[in-house]
Amino acid sequence: MTVEVLRYCPAAPNGAQKIKYEIEANNQTLLEVLTAIKTEYDATLSFNSDCRSGVCGSCAMRVNGVEVLACTYKVHDGDTVEPLRNMEVIRDLVVDSDHALAFNKKAHAYGSVSAVTRNVTPEEEKVNELQSACILCASCYSACPVYEVNSDFLGPFALTRSWRYVSDVRESDVSDKIATIQDNGIWDCTLCNECVPVCPVGIAPKQDIVMLRNKSGVMGYMDPSFSANFGGGFGNDGTPDFGDPAF
Ligand code: FES
Repeated sequence: MTVEVLRYCPAAPNGAQKIKYEIEANNQTLLEVLTAIKTEYDATLSFNSDCRSGVCGSCAMRVNGVEVLACTYKVHDGDTVEPLRNMEVIRDLVVDSDHALAFNKKAHAYGSVSAVTRNVTPEEEKVNELQSACILCASCYSACPVYEVNSDFLGPFALTRSWRYVSDVRESDVSDKIATIQDNGIWDCTLCNECVPVCPVGIAPKQDIVMLRNKSGVMGYMDPSFSANFGGGFGNDGTPDFGDPAF
């Protein structure tokens, strides 16, 4: 079968060039195929991998324009393999995802020092169990059209991680976490859903962003674009206050 790989090529106009490889493959993962190409054809082919079992997130890349984990995706004839989008390509299929993952800190998406120390019940744990399962593959940032045009957007992963802590029953005061996601955060998301199908562990960042919007509304925040047009804010009961009743 034939597989095309977008390779580092400084002489090419955009610094990369598609290289076609003819390979013997039958029901093999992309990671196995890339390893075979590297071993048998071209030792300079660069890509990341570690666990080989869909756990570490290091082998994320795109096939035919869709984000996948190379260690779990089964190769098909004619596949085109490219690095993740919206990140600097270091070489071939290796990208620098540090900028995206740093938003975790910017969004205060971690346990607070004021958090209560106590056991959680199985029911309480289930509330944010999925959000805790992120493997940091950065596929959601690659798929996000908002992050593509605004590199300051906190993005799907950091906001999912924020909801993971905002919804944690041990967090006694989440006002700081909610305040820090108002700018370049929850209201900038277009709810386009692009981040949802590409998550290899089934997290739905869009849904978590909606939950954060609801929580923000209850705490007196509102969509700045809505606020600019209609004034108001939110009343004590969490419903929109439309300001002048004569409006
Ligand atoms: Fe770890 Fe693919 S190598 S997720």
